[in-house]
Amino acid sequence: MITIFDPKTDIDLGTPARESQVQITLNIDGRSITVPEGTSVMRAAALMGTTIPKLCATDSLEAFGSCRMCLVEIDGMRGYPASCTTPVSEGMSVHTQTPKLATLRRNVMELYISDHPLDCLTCSANGNCELQTVAGQVGLREVRYGYEGENHLADVKDTSNPYFDYDPSKCIVCNRCVRACEETQGTFALTVSGRGFESRISAAGGDNFLDSECVSCGACVQACPTATLMEKSVVQMGQPERSVITTCAYCGVGCSFRAEMKGDQLVRMVPDKNGHANHGHSCVKGRFAWGYATHPDRITKPMIRKHISDPWQEVSWDEAVTYAASEFRRLQQQYGRDSIGGITSSRCTNEETYLVQKLVRTAFGNNNVDTCARVCHSPTGYGLKQTLGESAGTQSFDSVMQADVILVMGANPSDAHPVFGSQLKRRLREGARLIVIDPRRIDLVDSVHARAELHLALRPGTNVAMLNALAHVIVTEGLLDQAFIDERCETVDFARWSTFVSQPENAPEVLGLICGVPAEDIRAAARLYATGGNAAIYYGLGVTEHSQGSTSVMGIANLAMATGNIGREGVGVNPLRGQNNVQGSCDMGSFPHELPGYRHISNEVVRAQFERRGTSPCNRTRACASRTCSNRRWRAVSRACTARAKTSPRATRTPST
Ligand code: SF4
Ligand code: SF4
Ligand code: SF4
Ligand code: FES
Repeated sequence: MITIFDPKTDIDLGTPARESQVQITLNIDGRSITVPEGTSVMRAAALMGTTIPKLCATDSLEAFGSCRMCLVEIDGMRGYPASCTTPVSEGMSVHTQTPKLATLRRNVMELYISDHPLDCLTCSANGNCELQTVAGQVGLREVRYGYEGENHLADVKDTSNPYFDYDPSKCIVCNRCVRACEETQGTFALTVSGRGFESRISAAGGDNFLDSECVSCGACVQACPTATLMEKSVVQMGQPERSVITTCAYCGVGCSFRAEMKGDQLVRMVPDKNGHANHGHSCVKGRFAWGYATHPDRITKPMIRKHISDPWQEVSWDEAVTYAASEFRRLQQQYGRDSIGGITSSRCTNEETYLVQKLVRTAFGNNNVDTCARVCHSPTGYGLKQTLGESAGTQSFDSVMQADVILVMGANPSDAHPVFGSQLKRRLREGARLIVIDPRRIDLVDSVHARAELHLALRPGTNVAMLNALAHVIVTEGLLDQAFIDERCETVDFARWSTFVSQPENAPEVLGLICGVPAEDIRAAARLYATGGNAAIYYGLGVTEHSQGSTSVMGIANLAMATGNIGREGVGVNPLRGQNNVQGSCDMGSFPHELPGYRHISNEVVRAQFERRGTSPCNRTRACASRTCSNRRWRAVSRACTARAKTSPRATRTPST
């Protein structure tokens, strides 16, 4: 389904939302409104539909109070306070539109425009420029200072970045870009150099954007209210006409975007501030690496070749579908029912994935369906199902903002899941403590304003040993959450686990030698994880794509349960998935042994349910005992299936299985 972007859902309320139990009632222009304590006057006004002109404020960044466009009058308060930096107070009476305010705002705007190129008609932001909009809002009709004074109109453009330009002649030094790079992205690549009139935005660590520490996430471009920072694609193609909401095609963060289009041509991808995973942020991949969408190499028409050495021939959809179906039928007639199958990608939608497994199970009549999640996070599916009873991670990404201790294992979020990496770094800047378990010295170990308290640089392949050593410390030093264990864990299984990990051979002094990590660091990490408040584990392919990946995932889940770090915000077991729909592709029944919803194929009741609903899965449990069954993995995982196979007549004929 295509979701058309509705601009009405994208109102900028000026300053970020505040959460508070305390509600404040105030009066704005004669109307009463109640908002949480800490809300700015600007946001309160915007919530009731009153627009106060603004330039340096935006609701994705903390207020800065530099442009002086948002002045208001407040009864009992001297002067004209900036509404973006003034918090509401009980009984406050605010006036946003008075003749004096109108004059002040026009005066400020006059100053801005006196040092701004008068090229609106040919500007790439024309029609989508906050400076232009606010000039209209305040009723600017003349610039009394003229345009001949000292100005920045000759400042040289920086076009070094491959994705966006920086035109300092249009800069109003509102600082939004600098704050976006700090607060949203956490890279701190921008700074304001010079003082007063000489103040200019500079890319830190280089002479231009390309040579600087900038990672091209685009947050500054998104924040800029003028055409100073502007996507090259918009400069070349002009402003887009319409937007559709979509999901980034890259990593497992699953950022939402507005695909901004001109006709059918994609002009730019703008991170959607209503996106639950990204809240209006993005990384370079989703924001700028969308050339594939319209790349000429894309295959957009069906093609057939009958032999690998034949050239591809474009054909109609009817011909392609008929040919594929007849070839499937021919192969099955010639080589047997199990000779064909289907594989889906974790970049497919749920609907596509569901239909492929249904095609395989109903039309092909076998369970030969699989997905690329097999090679990345199937250990997550299996390990979490075994321990927690659910194959999915336990938290949303926002949960990290409640974490006090963050344990990152076998993952490099700032590179591989950059938008989550930025959120994680933001939490670290707020004071959360970080443990990194990874052979690599990843960015998080020591980056700007984010540093790991402990980096356990274990030898590759020793994840299970490390997790057992951590568990040993937690159990033997009495760091367990006994109340949680008593209430939520299986008593017998817990006793077996704790007895095992308590054994002396699982002590950090022993396993640390295998892992190549000092025992005292392992002990310190275990203590911090177990006692540091809300503790959350984030892990990636450095866990799941290694041997014993499933065992490692179970070890991670056991740590969380033993310390009660599960079941609330700020804690949990969080797999960082590689692609944008790994979870969905597993949910939809893409594995040979599982029907949609992780229901095991060997369960006759489950199979009957699916047969009634039109998905008639392969029900040949006896075929597990057949040499012709290609479903080897299914056979390996299904104990019930194996048991049934042993008693089946065919099993006696094929004892090797
Ligand atoms: S693109 Fe991102 S990293 Fe680069 S300067 Fe802008 S906000 Fe900072
Ligand atoms: S580049 Fe844009 S966001 Fe940055 S200070 Fe200038 S006008 Fe503001
Ligand atoms: S973090 Fe992942 S989902 Fe978000 S924009 Fe980057 S690649 Fe896309
Ligand atoms: S918007 Fe309030 S000072 Fe700029």
